[in-house]
Amino acid sequence: MDNLKRSLFCALDFKDPGDAHKLIEKVKKYIDGVKVGLEFFLANGPIEVIKLKKYGLPIFLDLKLHDIPNTVSEAVKSVMKIKPDLLSVHITGGRQMLKEVASLKKRPKIVGISMLTSLEKQDLNQMGINLSPENYVKKLAKIAIKLRLDGIVSSAREAKLIRSICPQEFIIITPGIRLDSKNLADQKRVTTPKHAIENGASMLIVGRPIIKSKNPGNVAKKIKNIIENI
Ligand code: C5P
Repeated sequence: MDNLKRSLFCALDFKDPGDAHKLIEKVKKYIDGVKVGLEFFLANGPIEVIKLKKYGLPIFLDLKLHDIPNTVSEAVKSVMKIKPDLLSVHITGGRQMLKEVASLKKRPKIVGISMLTSLEKQDLNQMGINLSPENYVKKLAKIAIKLRLDGIVSSAREAKLIRSICPQEFIIITPGIRLDSKNLADQKRVTTPKHAIENGASMLIVGRPIIKSKNPGNVAKKIKNIIENI
């Protein structure tokens, strides 16, 4: 997987593996990888993730691990039977956990979850964090960079800020992508694909705008064109 390539990953947020395969068949020409999250993984386990490998697309296993250092590093070892290309852990799991995971000899690329795109300033304040989303994400990004994670997951709204402090090869993954301001559902800190790329995102994660569309192939093609032509 090339860290520097601008890419489109489709979130396979399905319980039924058959639905995931049908979707991939429709969009595989336009996407650069797939993201498998908790919905698919907990319903089907590693075996069905391994079956997705037949398409030859990189797999981002978005398990958002968040636990004590020993538990997370042992979980990363367990995940190696799937050999995903990327795996997510929460940066708020703490420095020791991140350090142990990053230093594992055999591991996928590890990306740190910063602030979920469904959260906004008010949510931070309610948790006692009196920072703007930008400053909070910047703090978490500095930790991820220092502890040598391979990348970060944030809203594209913070991508420019992260780009200004991270090494060139650092992967900036941005969910919360919408083609317009309709159908935001639970997402709050959203951006368009164009804005995400202009802000320095390397990997756009798109779920519902593609998978809930009547024509997933068309939407994926449209986003891919935007990404390629900026
Ligand atoms: O459907 P939608 O495009 O909003 O999907 C976004 C995907 O990205 C979901 O699978 C969600 O779990 C994931 N994600 C997110 N925010 C993060 C990290 C991952 O929305 N910070």
